[in-house]
Amino acid sequence: MSQHAETKRLTVPELRARKGGTPIVCLTAYDAPSAAILDAHADMILVGDSVGMVVHGLDATVPVTLEMMILHAQAVMRGAERALVAVDLPFGSFEASPAQAFASAARVMKETGCQAVKIESGAYAAETIRFLVERGAPVIAHVGLRPQAVHAQGGFKARGRTAEERDSVLADARAADQAGAFAIVIEAVAEDLAREITAAVGCPTIGIGASAACDGQVLVTDDMLGLFDWTPRFVRRYADLRAAKSEAVKAFAEDVRARRFPGEAETYRLKPR
Ligand code: KIV
Repeated sequence: MSQHAETKRLTVPELRARKGGTPIVCLTAYDAPSAAILDAHADMILVGDSVGMVVHGLDATVPVTLEMMILHAQAVMRGAERALVAVDLPFGSFEASPAQAFASAARVMKETGCQAVKIESGAYAAETIRFLVERGAPVIAHVGLRPQAVHAQGGFKARGRTAEERDSVLADARAADQAGAFAIVIEAVAEDLAREITAAVGCPTIGIGASAACDGQVLVTDDMLGLFDWTPRFVRRYADLRAAKSEAVKAFAEDVRARRFPGEAETYRLKPR
């Protein structure tokens, strides 16, 4: 058997073992340079199907395809060498049957080298999660607000506001945990429900708009960097990169129009700064 260099990446069992320990830091990335920046700080990088809205200008994640996810995940894998990389299975690529889900997960894992897939998980998903996990495809579940179910759920709204909704979010999380998910993303639920889910499941929970009562947090990186003029209320903006980008582009345009050379040397050099 050939020798392999020991992987430096955080593994699925290592992340699973963080339940109740040091909080898990997770952010989204869709390209190699961003992944390289995140890699120094994040435990896990999620190639989210939010790529459809963040990068491709779609107004929902529903149209995102498996091919889009694979292309972006390949770029992220080139940029990150330490963080665990997980990739969303997009709408329509896993719901029809466990076999369809396994075919999609296997394709994503083989073609990108990522370690895990994430699936938005309603009640039907437990059988699929078990099928994937038993066949070597680690799964992160996603409960609460499920953006792929935006039409069924009636918009991007907080979940668990009625007793019935609460019970169903809690049941989805328990079922995913029992089926072998190694982490569960909880999106847009109130703190008491996030706390109840976190106490009820054996795997770590990773919240997005779900309070600090989770085992970790995930945000869409572009939201927290302030790259959009609109940011969800639960997101803290750690930077205002939209304004910085706009200022830089304006300065470039002014230089060009004033016939000022917009480089530091008058001749083209390949040497980095
Ligand atoms: O698609 C995505 O980016 C996600 C995170 C927001 C959890 O699912």
